[in-house]
Amino acid sequence: MCKHFAEAPGSSVDFTKGREVLPKNVKAVHYDLTLEPNFETFKYGGKVIIDLDVIDDTTSISLNTLELDIHSTKVFSGSTEITSSPEIHYNEDTQTTKVSFNEVLPAGSEARLEQTFTGTLNDNMAGFYRSSYKGSDGSTKYLATTQMEPTDARRAFPCFDEPALKSEFTITLVADKALTCLSNMDVASEKEVSGGKKAVTFNKTPLMSTYLLAFIVGELKVIETNAFRVPVRVFATPDRDIEHGRFSLELAAKTLEFYEKKFNSEFPLPKMDMVAIPDFSAGAMENWGLITYRVVDLLLDEKVSGASTKQRVAEVVQHELAHQWFGNLVTMDFWDGLWLNEGFATWMSWYSCNAFYPEWKVWQGYVTDNLQSALSLDSLRSSHPIEVPVKRADEINQIFDAISYSKGSCVLRMISKYIGEETFMEGVRRYLKKHAYGNTQTEDLWAALSDASGKDVEKVMDIWTKNVGFPVVTVTENKDSIHVKQNRFLRTSDVKPEEDKTLYPVLLALRTKDGINEDLTLTEREANFKVKDLDFFKLNADHSGVYRTSYTPERLQKLGQAAKNGLLSVEDRAGMIADAGALAASGYQKTSGILSLLQGFKSEPEFVVWDEIISRIGSVRGAWVFEDETTKDALKSFQLDLIKDKAHELGWSFKDTDGHLEQQFKSMLFGSAGLAGDEKIKAAAFDMLEKFKAGDRTAIHPNIRSSVYAIGLSFADQKYYDLILNEYRTAGTSDERNTAMRVLGRAKSPELIKRTLTFPLSDEVKSQDIYLPLGGLRTHKEGIVALWSWVKENWDELEKKLPPGLTMLGSVVSICTSSFTSKEQMQDIEGFFAKKSTKGFDQSLAQSLDAVKAKAQWVERDGKDVKTWLAENKYL
Ligand code: BES
Ligand code: ZN
Repeated sequence: MCKHFAEAPGSSVDFTKGREVLPKNVKAVHYDLTLEPNFETFKYGGKVIIDLDVIDDTTSISLNTLELDIHSTKVFSGSTEITSSPEIHYNEDTQTTKVSFNEVLPAGSEARLEQTFTGTLNDNMAGFYRSSYKGSDGSTKYLATTQMEPTDARRAFPCFDEPALKSEFTITLVADKALTCLSNMDVASEKEVSGGKKAVTFNKTPLMSTYLLAFIVGELKVIETNAFRVPVRVFATPDRDIEHGRFSLELAAKTLEFYEKKFNSEFPLPKMDMVAIPDFSAGAMENWGLITYRVVDLLLDEKVSGASTKQRVAEVVQHELAHQWFGNLVTMDFWDGLWLNEGFATWMSWYSCNAFYPEWKVWQGYVTDNLQSALSLDSLRSSHPIEVPVKRADEINQIFDAISYSKGSCVLRMISKYIGEETFMEGVRRYLKKHAYGNTQTEDLWAALSDASGKDVEKVMDIWTKNVGFPVVTVTENKDSIHVKQNRFLRTSDVKPEEDKTLYPVLLALRTKDGINEDLTLTEREANFKVKDLDFFKLNADHSGVYRTSYTPERLQKLGQAAKNGLLSVEDRAGMIADAGALAASGYQKTSGILSLLQGFKSEPEFVVWDEIISRIGSVRGAWVFEDETTKDALKSFQLDLIKDKAHELGWSFKDTDGHLEQQFKSMLFGSAGLAGDEKIKAAAFDMLEKFKAGDRTAIHPNIRSSVYAIGLSFADQKYYDLILNEYRTAGTSDERNTAMRVLGRAKSPELIKRTLTFPLSDEVKSQDIYLPLGGLRTHKEGIVALWSWVKENWDELEKKLPPGLTMLGSVVSICTSSFTSKEQMQDIEGFFAKKSTKGFDQSLAQSLDAVKAKAQWVERDGKDVKTWLAENKYL
């Protein structure tokens, strides 16, 4: 059926062109690596012995190193050391050390490279680095840990640091006897060495990529389970209650068993360790057999954390475990295939969550979560294709974004629905079996899925992964048919003809009273399709397709009615609202249209749909944040009017018998109505705050803690500021502390804004948490302006503290710029960065600017329309 799909226009791109990679004259087959961290000097000594196969006659070996001090280099041909002393040349730009010598290592022979070196246990959360926590006596304690992905293994030791250059590794760690030493494998031997220390040697790893290596040295507590075939353990520093790792521990054991069955592939390592690291740049990292986590993403105290925190922990654990097969056992060939790793792990964590917690209905939430993040970023001109050529190390970090994760998982969800979930899993099994311990390209996954399904998957999917953007499908109606037309969708709605050439195979999934017709595909620019009964129809049933649908205003109204009549699924209702909101924001429809649509949803019973409703009102209010106060107040009244009945109906007391979704539902409506000024909720929140202040720690339920704080700060400014700040300073868990720091910025008075802005760069806030105090400030215009001034004033320090190699500088830039809404503000941002290096965050910056531009146009276009609607509906 797919024979008429056009060739993907992007398919002729040569991804390898201009790629900075190592020469292929030698191939590492085994590393013997010894490391000895020193917690006084924050240096570590290292020795690496690399066994090499010589591929071509050669007189040099090039490998990656970064900020390493190399003391000695020896080259052996066979077992004989070469006589001339090798010359060392470092290329800073490509982060490579070239070892040159006079003798020729002949093709087909074996060789060995030995180097001794010193590295720094840095505090930048990259390579082999130090992380700190408070000891029981109040002193600062350290552990040494690693973060290699994507290109920082070279910062830890000299290596051939590319995902396709798989090798085996034998790791030895030298440390004080009292410290725990961990690596990817289990311990092979332990012996005493000089200075009363121990040398712990781990068993040889299977063939693996450098970015998945991990070593940890520190004082750690542990819990263990034997519920799985091999031991599973959770580790944390002594300042934590290790019992908070119980939930993740048990979930991990269950998940490993589930994946082994689903993938029909045994977990190949002898153990699975998961460690909570106090300083961690990402959320978690899938190192083979030794997964590292940010504390909040592994440890959970159900007594003080809400339902959404629990779901996040479950998601992260299941995501990293999925990588143990998808990513670790079978690895992308190069970083432009990153989406294979991240898109799949994302999809798989939803699949697995759905299997373990069906009552969470996570696939419903998928539509408001991953699908919207994907469509949102991908509606910007500065987005990129799922498969994007990356050449240099500093480009790689920037593609760990909503395109690789969310859009990647969306296209997998799309194809899994198209060929059927069972067939999809069968394809995945074949893929894992065929490529175990190897490297793949996207085509290899499509081939396995084609093999399993008998359909030409590559032909359908190539277009989706090789091109930027997605279509908006415009539907008009004739007597007994619908007319559909596809065009590229841009949030700035200024699509140029040359940007609108890709024709996607759009799976129309037409829902009518007779059910869903899965066979209709729009492959051309436009087409007509017969529909028996035009009284009710909707495209993109359950929003499995990666596109938006634009209906006529009359049809949209009818769909609103259909929603009330129970003709649409939860996914349909949420997705339809999201589409309407996005289309209004970009000028394809009028904003008054979405406001009217939302008004019809007052009686909506489902959490996920309300989540989307609230987020769409939030987008309007966000774009209008610099407009006059009367209009802003009117929008706020509209929000309150829309949600208050439901909020009061659900209430804000929590019982143990409340379902997972019910808890989140109550908590969301409580916060949203309260912040929109609901008097009853405000009074309840103040009451809780007073009790809390008086020492009753149970006065505020974890599910609404963040909202109660936010209400306190928004409506009483300084009254509870110190109370909440004190929570940050003293609360028992990271989740409680983060909740406090995240809301502080809600306080709007100039003095408090100033105070909040002292935190991000202070010693009180770890670099990993720099975004926490910034968040609250984005919720009001005073804060938005202050954030940007703060960035300008502190730029040099920010750059120093957040090296461009990490994703964090990009996040800070995006947090501090993307809330603006006018062209003048855009120019200010552009002007500032014109004189700066934007290396490592040029993508986030461009995306922020695009987003601002879209909002500026939106307000300009629909300012009057919104005012008229608000007046007609008595909000103004
Ligand atoms: N492989 C990533 C971690 C990573 C991210 C390394 C960015 C280098 C740069 C890991 O599997 C991951 O995706 N972690 C996510 C959590 C996940 C549940 C989405 C994260 O860190 O947020
Ligand atoms: Zn991942």
